[in-house]
Amino acid sequence: MFNVVLCLCLFLAVINGAKILGVFMTPSFSHQQVFQPVWKELSLRGHQVIVYTPSPLNEKSLTNLTEYDLNFSYEVFRNYSNFEDTDSAPNDELMQILLACVKASEAQLNHPFLQDLLKNVNKDTYDLLIVEYFWQPYYALKEIYKVPMVGLLSFPLSITTADVVGLEKHPVVDPEFLLDFSFAKNFKQRLQSWLFNWAYRVFFQYKVTPIFDDQIRKYFGNDMKSATQLTNEVELVIGSSNFALDNLKARNGKYVAVSSLHVQPIQPLPKDLGEYLDKLKTDVIYFSLGTNVKSSKIAKNVMDTIIKVLGSLPYTILWKSDLVNLPKNIHKNFYIRKWYPQQDLLGHEKVKLFITQGGCQSIDEAMDRGVPMLIMPVFGDQPANADKCVNKGIAEMVNIYDFTEEEFRIKLSMLLTTSSYKSNIIQQGKIVRDQPLPAVDTAIFWIEYVIRHKGASHLQPATLTLPFYQYHLLDVYLFVAFVLYLFIYISKKVIFGVLKLFKLNTKQKIA
Ligand SMILES: *[C@@H]1O[C@H](CO)[C@@H](O)[C@H](O)[C@H]1NC(C)=O
Ligand SMILES: *[C@@H]1O[C@H](CO)[C@@H](O)[C@H](O)[C@H]1NC(C)=O
Ligand SMILES: *[C@@H]1O[C@H](CO)[C@@H](O)[C@H](O)[C@H]1NC(C)=O
Repeated sequence: MFNVVLCLCLFLAVINGAKILGVFMTPSFSHQQVFQPVWKELSLRGHQVIVYTPSPLNEKSLTNLTEYDLNFSYEVFRNYSNFEDTDSAPNDELMQILLACVKASEAQLNHPFLQDLLKNVNKDTYDLLIVEYFWQPYYALKEIYKVPMVGLLSFPLSITTADVVGLEKHPVVDPEFLLDFSFAKNFKQRLQSWLFNWAYRVFFQYKVTPIFDDQIRKYFGNDMKSATQLTNEVELVIGSSNFALDNLKARNGKYVAVSSLHVQPIQPLPKDLGEYLDKLKTDVIYFSLGTNVKSSKIAKNVMDTIIKVLGSLPYTILWKSDLVNLPKNIHKNFYIRKWYPQQDLLGHEKVKLFITQGGCQSIDEAMDRGVPMLIMPVFGDQPANADKCVNKGIAEMVNIYDFTEEEFRIKLSMLLTTSSYKSNIIQQGKIVRDQPLPAVDTAIFWIEYVIRHKGASHLQPATLTLPFYQYHLLDVYLFVAFVLYLFIYISKKVIFGVLKLFKLNTKQKIA
């Protein structure tokens, strides 16, 4: 008995004492807000947490948390990315985002904060490294500190990440999220999805990985492991997902899906906004294209159409805009602000519709609060997200690059007058919430699990150890094809032989 108690105490002591290093590089608030609850909760549970991020929480009460503010990365990223340009092709988009990330990470790696971390000037030791599982050079920190690494992801699994964690991302039911459909419904889409997966793998291997390897050599030295090796050595990936929308219910040892990690219980609105809404005589449509798409970058005629139609509705339009180049013809029913507490606003009873670009986090929030959406996808995974929502009957989609005033008007009217959108989205929200543990607790459980076991290689599916040809059973298929060929070849010979004999015999008889 005493032994058990002692063991338990030791076990808890180990966990309480953990010192955790977190590095989250992407200068995008919608990504960072997914990770924030995790590092906050870890610190509240008594871990000592040291985090490098462009979006620190800056909460004085979190005494076990040290945050290194990389907020300068936002400006660097913005300077090099203009993926919200309405006429850039998807391919350019990807390269532009990549380039902006390269510039942002170089600025980070050159900054004294990261330089000190890289050189370990304070001779620190850690029990675990948590990284945003996206920018591979940072994974090299696990070699410097000799710690296990857990990855966090704020968007759905890409094909290359699925390969690393040993999940099969089926090209029919789970096309790569950069494609604009979420389920390959016909032959053309199936072919496109299959080809895209392989093209993306090749693109990643030959275009992206060398960028990572260059950075690793430059900042971590020539002896450092390769980007691919570091990436494969992740113990566990915790990915933000949506249990209601995902066609593949992805779960396996090395990948833990959590839904709506960043969605918090509804908080009261700031006083002025709350009072404004309470006094309103009309219901509200909330219009926001997210934190990465600047309203001012949307083509003028598109904005004009949107404003004209929304201006004619008997609703108050709460519009989140960067306030740059605002059109002059704004109607009286618009209430424009640079920022709204979106989660809490969507929880307000007067908000009846959410016009959104369809980012994962916005959809999670709308689903949790039960607000139907009109989705105007701009780039990246947004078209596929929109497709999923339309299929579930919780949203309509309008192509922001090509739509008519009439289409916009009709879809708005459908959303505002048909009750099924609302009941469907409430239903889907319940599905997301009904889980054994809340999302943050699930993430913390698995992070502490890796600390307790000093890694989690035992969780890896054995498929990951197989060479390519064995995983895809190429040798087996080849063998079967060969046997079939042999069978057909011999059968043909035998049949022709018999026929020949037969003919010869008959000829002889006739003769
Ligand atoms: C800080 O960690 C200690 C344990 O190391 C814990 O008792 C305390 O509650 C934590 N404080 C905060 C504010 O998270
Ligand atoms: C950015 O971070 C620095 C500390 O690294 C801080 O002094 C500064 O106030 C921050 N700026 C903003 C806009 O948050
Ligand atoms: C971003 O661009 C602006 C304007 O061109 C420039 O003044 C600023 O220094 C740039 N910032 C960074 C961090 O590159």
